[in-house]
Amino acid sequence: MTDMSVLQATPSPDPSRTAGGEQRLARRMARGAEFLGSQVAILGGAMSWVSERHLVSAISNAGGFGVIACGAMTPALLDTEIAATKALTDKPFGVNLITMHPDLFELIAVCAKHKVGHVVLAGGLPPKGSIEAIKETGAKLIAFSPALALAKKLIRSGVDALVIEGMEAGGHIGPVSTSVLAQEMLPEIAEQVPVFVAGGIGRGEAIAGYLDMGAAGVQLGTLFVCATESIAHANFKKAFIRASARDAIASVQIDARLPVIPVRALKNASSELFTAKQREVAGHLDEGRVEMAEAQLQIEHYWAGALRRAVIDGDVEHGSVMAGQSVGMVKREEPVANIIAGLMAQASAALEARAA
Ligand SMILES: Cc1cc2nc3c(=O)[nH]c(=O)nc-3n(C[C@H](O)[C@H](O)[C@H](O)COP(=O)(O)O)c2cc1C
Repeated sequence: MTDMSVLQATPSPDPSRTAGGEQRLARRMARGAEFLGSQVAILGGAMSWVSERHLVSAISNAGGFGVIACGAMTPALLDTEIAATKALTDKPFGVNLITMHPDLFELIAVCAKHKVGHVVLAGGLPPKGSIEAIKETGAKLIAFSPALALAKKLIRSGVDALVIEGMEAGGHIGPVSTSVLAQEMLPEIAEQVPVFVAGGIGRGEAIAGYLDMGAAGVQLGTLFVCATESIAHANFKKAFIRASARDAIASVQIDARLPVIPVRALKNASSELFTAKQREVAGHLDEGRVEMAEAQLQIEHYWAGALRRAVIDGDVEHGSVMAGQSVGMVKREEPVANIIAGLMAQASAALEARAA
């Protein structure tokens, strides 16, 4: 059941008009919130370097569902991070695992040790045995699916919920927009498992829209980067606050043999660094010095390093400032609770207005 105090804390557009809207919103979010064990069906999408103990616990404490990003973590670091997050919140939170992480099965074992309730699996087809290994830990498994056929396959394989993420999102992206994915996929799969829609969500009206289309909830990343509780460097936050939607552009693939997954980030000098990195890795492929899987892993390591340079060191010129197109709607640094309350107020008002 949604905690109404979260909604009432909100500077509502017109409180007298939103009571019915709040109830409608609570009803539409009930399935997703129950699945997550949270008050509201809003996931804070895992963001490498950003989604650590402080932001994750703040999102869960504010009624949402925080997710630790462990794409750039060793099993030992994840072990420490889960324990530290538990010290900051007694609310449920999840762990994001990347399918191509070389220590995937050790990371799953760390989640099992801490009895993590929800694992979010991102980054392409789950390797053999990984779905079973995660489910054996007792965790609910949420997987990303960028296409309907894969979603159906994942549901058959036993995943408990799906995230469908469009190309408006920050970080690694697929080729299709959120609005098209939602139209194509929700009518086919939303009854079978809870589906969370992600990519380009900056206001509650959009959340109301996806809930009306059958989504169980939503996942946002970009909007949480500038939360007061986020440890992102002040330069990283400033870049977000200054940027508009058109500044968040997808990286370009320069070599047809090296199928790199596009990454959406604010445009800066780092695009040239990425071009140089692709040339270097393509050269290694040519010379037979690396296999394709290793080449792709090198590219992923590059991204993790470039993101760290921007998020932690504050080098927003040469590092990667991963951001989604909703970055233009990030106007200030503010506590997570305000961000969630604002989104809920907008969603309630939209549902109220639609019912009128
Ligand atoms: C800075 C940044 C880093 C991200 N890192 C990851 C990651 O490590 N793993 C992952 O599954 N998704 C990652 N994402 C995607 C988010 O989890 C989320 O799905 C996405 O931000 C939602 O779209 P939005 O940015 O339009 O809100 C990242 C996004 C951003 C902006």
